Formats: sequence, C-alpha cells, structure tokens
Amino acid sequence: MTKAVRVHKVGGPEVLTYEDIEVGAPGAGEVRIRQHAIGLNFIDVYFRTGLYKAPGLPFIAGNEAAGEVLAVGAGVTNFHPGDRVAYYYNLGGYASERVIPAEKLVKLPDHITYEQGAVLMLKGLTVWYLLHKTFKVEPGHRVLIHAAAGGIGLLACQWARALGAHVIGTVGSKAKADLALANGCDHVILYNEENFVERVKQISRGALCDVVYDGVGKTTFPGSLACLRPRGLFVSFGNASGPVPPFPLAELNNHGSLFATRPKLNDYVGTRKELLEGADTLFAAVINGKLHVPINHAYALKDAARAHIDLESRATTGAAILRP
Ligand SMILES: NC(=O)c1ccc[n+]([C@@H]2O[C@H](COP(=O)([O-])OP(=O)(O)OC[C@H]3O[C@@H](n4cnc5c(N)ncnc54)[C@H](OP(=O)(O)O)[C@@H]3O)[C@@H](O)[C@H]2O)c1
Repeated sequence: MTKAVRVHKVGGPEVLTYEDIEVGAPGAGEVRIRQHAIGLNFIDVYFRTGLYKAPGLPFIAGNEAAGEVLAVGAGVTNFHPGDRVAYYYNLGGYASERVIPAEKLVKLPDHITYEQGAVLMLKGLTVWYLLHKTFKVEPGHRVLIHAAAGGIGLLACQWARALGAHVIGTVGSKAKADLALANGCDHVILYNEENFVERVKQISRGALCDVVYDGVGKTTFPGSLACLRPRGLFVSFGNASGPVPPFPLAELNNHGSLFATRPKLNDYVGTRKELLEGADTLFAAVINGKLHVPINHAYALKDAARAHIDLESRATTGAAILRP
C-alpha cells in the first residue's frame, strides 16, 4: 500500500483526496519508482477543475516528479534499482510510488537534485522548447513573457536573457517585479496596474516584440497581439486566467501579418530522441550555472489542496514541490 492524491469528481481544491492506493509490479518495458519530489503545475489545476479532461475518474493528479528506481520490468535494460530518475508523463504524479514506461524516464545527473529534477521535467522542458524550438531566441530579440515570476516565468526569463534577448516581463505585484528583475528581466510591467501594451510601446520605442510568450490567456489577450512587431510570433501556451476566446484570423492580419501558435510539451518531446535532447540541454544549463532553479515552496503531498489554493490565488512564485 502506498499514498496518492486522487480526484473522484472535478471541482475545487477540496476534491484532492489523500488516500491509500495499490501500485502493482512493473510490466514489460516499465519501471516502478519511489518518488522523492513532485512538481506542482498549473496544468494540475486545469485537470482538477475539468478544464482539461482526464481520461476517466478517479484519477491521480500530477504530471512530473523525480525519484529512485525500485524495480524494473521485463526488457528494461537501461534502468536499474537505485538509479535517480525524473519524468514528465501522463496523470499519476501525485503519489509516493508509481509505475511508468521506462522510455519516459531520464536519468538525473549527479549535480541535479530530486527537487530540481521534479520541477524541470515539465516546467524546464517547456521553457526549453518555447525558447529553442517554437521560436529560436537569439541575441537582440525582444521578448515579452507574461507571469514572469511564475514557475515557467522565472526559468524563461533567465534562459531568454542568457540567450542574449532583451526581456520584458509582466507580473502581478511589486514583490514579483523584484524577483523577475533578479531573474533576467530587463523591464517589468505591473500588468494589473499599468496598460502593458502602452508600456511595451514605450520600452521598445515603438519597435515592439519579436515574440510574446503568453501563459495567462484570457486577460492578456488580445493585448499580447498588439505587443508584436509585424510578422512577430504569438505563443499562447496556457490559460492561467482562462482560455483565449475564439478570434477571427483577420486579427493576425490587422496587427501586421502575425504568426500564432498554441503549443504543448507532448508535441516537442514525443520521441525519445527529442526528450533526451531537451533534458540534456536543460540539465547542462543548470549545471553550467546558466539556469538557477527557483524552488520557492514545498508542501507535504497530503497538503496538495493547500498548494492548489496558493497557486490559483497567485500566492506562489517560481516553482513549488510536493513531498510524498
Ligand atoms: N503548453 C505547454 O506546454 C505548457 C507546459 C507547462 C505550463 N504551461 C502553462 O504555463 C503557464 C504557467 O504555468 P506554471 O505552472 O508555471 O504557473 P505559474 O506561472 O507559477 O502560476 C500562474 C501565474 O499566472 C498569473 N496569473 C494571471 N492571471 C491569473 C489568474 N486569473 N489566476 C491565476 N494566476 C494568474 C499569476 O502571476 P501574476 O500574479 O504575476 O499575474 C500566477 O502566479 C500556465 O498557463 C500553464 O498552463 C503550458
């Protein structure tokens, strides 16, 4: 018997139920792991509320974690009991132990802690593909990153700056502004108090941005489009304030022949080769000191509801973990 946080019906944080579960032996191609740290993500909220549909009820929340291998199933040759591993995978993350396909695991280098591994596989890999694949950030690019002090935000600002970009971040409070400035932002806009489109115009002296990374959604749209230079790229990668409403394609034309994409991590690390490329680049960036992993909150797994309340009420900054 082991512990997990399950959702029996979608709803508020109170539907997160800490309970006993059975975890079976790993089947062919699978690995059983004991989890030491679990990443908290906004996507966990979307599944809990039903904005994103889980395959069925009940389900165990969570998509990223790190831990040690306990046992391997038939045919698994590249992982062994005791190996330190991390993953981004389907629901099932909020648990003390789980069984997972070996092909979804990566080994943690010695210098990466379980805590870091647990927040790098979803948040870090997302930042990797957003800045290297969706749009290749290069020296001199001007990028706008919404919710710059969040889990994705602080990593994205640091990495974009390290790539040589001029980074503008938006945040919800003065304390978050200070944090974003200390993590790679050249300029920070308090988007609840200031008109962020006007501020981007001022800061860029009318040149606007090459790319906007928007994980906030409803409240920052359509302003994000107005922050882009002609032929710039709108990257809508999340909905912390609610989904972007349907809009006429002509809006892209009106704002200067813009491009728009709605990417997700699965489509960028779908193959083993892509997963390892992303993880290797990410771990190297952390080990080389290019990327600091800000883990600013830790909760016991049984307090997952508290963690969700904090995340949804915008009380967290950087990454947060749950400890089984
Ligand atoms: N597409 C992908 O592949 C992918 C992968 C991972 C994550 N994501 C997305 O990335 C975004 C960030 O995820 P995260 O886990 O790192 O979360 P987070 O940024 O740590 O938390 C969300 C932040 O959004 C801001 N926000 C603005 N309006 C909000 C509202 N009405 N309610 C709550 N928060 C609001 C808040 O910052 P302020 O107080 O500064 O406004 C809040 O701290 C999410 O939209 C998530 O879905 C997408």
